[in-house]
Amino acid sequence: MQEVAVAVATRVVVTGFLPGGGTERLAREVEVLGPPAEGVDRRVWLLEAVREADGLLCLLVDRVDRELLDAAPRLRAVSTLSTGVDHIDLAACRERGIVVTHSPDVLTEATADLAWALMLAAARRVVEGDRLVRAGGFHGWRPDLLLGAEVYGRTLGIVGLGRIGKAVAKRASGFDMNVIYWNRTEINPMEDEWLGVSRVELDELLAKADFVSVHLAYTAETHHFIGRRELALMGAHAVLVNTSRGAVVDEAALADALEAGRPAAAGLDVFEREPAVEPRLLRLPQVVLTPHIGSATRQTREAMARLAVDNLLAALQGRRPPAAVE
Ligand code: DGY
Repeated sequence: MQEVAVAVATRVVVTGFLPGGGTERLAREVEVLGPPAEGVDRRVWLLEAVREADGLLCLLVDRVDRELLDAAPRLRAVSTLSTGVDHIDLAACRERGIVVTHSPDVLTEATADLAWALMLAAARRVVEGDRLVRAGGFHGWRPDLLLGAEVYGRTLGIVGLGRIGKAVAKRASGFDMNVIYWNRTEINPMEDEWLGVSRVELDELLAKADFVSVHLAYTAETHHFIGRRELALMGAHAVLVNTSRGAVVDEAALADALEAGRPAAAGLDVFEREPAVEPRLLRLPQVVLTPHIGSATRQTREAMARLAVDNLLAALQGRRPPAAVE
């Protein structure tokens, strides 16, 4: 009997909704499985779904580890809808020749905006004010009602002057702030001048800054980068903002420090064990909490989805992806 060759379609697993018609765009080029239905165990679903997959388009909540890669013998490309790649075992992907891509740049401005929103909200007690008004506690103007911290003209300390750190720094010029930063690697002094920022040692930054905004990628080296010792260096009036990854800050140490009144307040978009949040932080009125929405504008999420799809299709079609993780 004559054998008939059957062309095997390229199969892609998608683990989340892709704004802006991303899933439909993928489906025009490859066979798409997913996203998983609400309420199903994502991990169990994913381990089964990747068995025949050539590509995976995942979210930052999906662990791409050896167990998953072992379950996916055909996998050639992983595209994550995030800049951060701390949920992906890059070494294991490299060993298997799997291309990994991410979605940087397009979320820079939205994330910088949210860092500023948290800074202003924490300094000016916006959330406390909102709760007070809703609870019927606003009984008229008073000279001592919800006194907060001035932002204009103060010192902003940026920990990690990458793309987002720089975007946060640029916004500070409108507030006539003194901007100091710490970065692991040297930044071109001309760029410092252009941005109007000065490099200092980390301890000096923590001691001098009225606002400390953290913009570090999460790696083994940055785990609890802001810990008990670093928090103790911050001023009693200072505000800590974290829009990077939760575990860059020691959450239990931060709760202790805030309970003790130093630093004065915090604005947190990310948490060490998401979606769980250290329960003591939930009880502290001087902490503003948002649910990891740094990049959550319609425009940015659509751009991220577009880039994630472009990346995956390029990798699967043997072209150079626009944003490969080296
Ligand atoms: C990222 O892309 O890593 C962000 O945390 C998601 O907004």
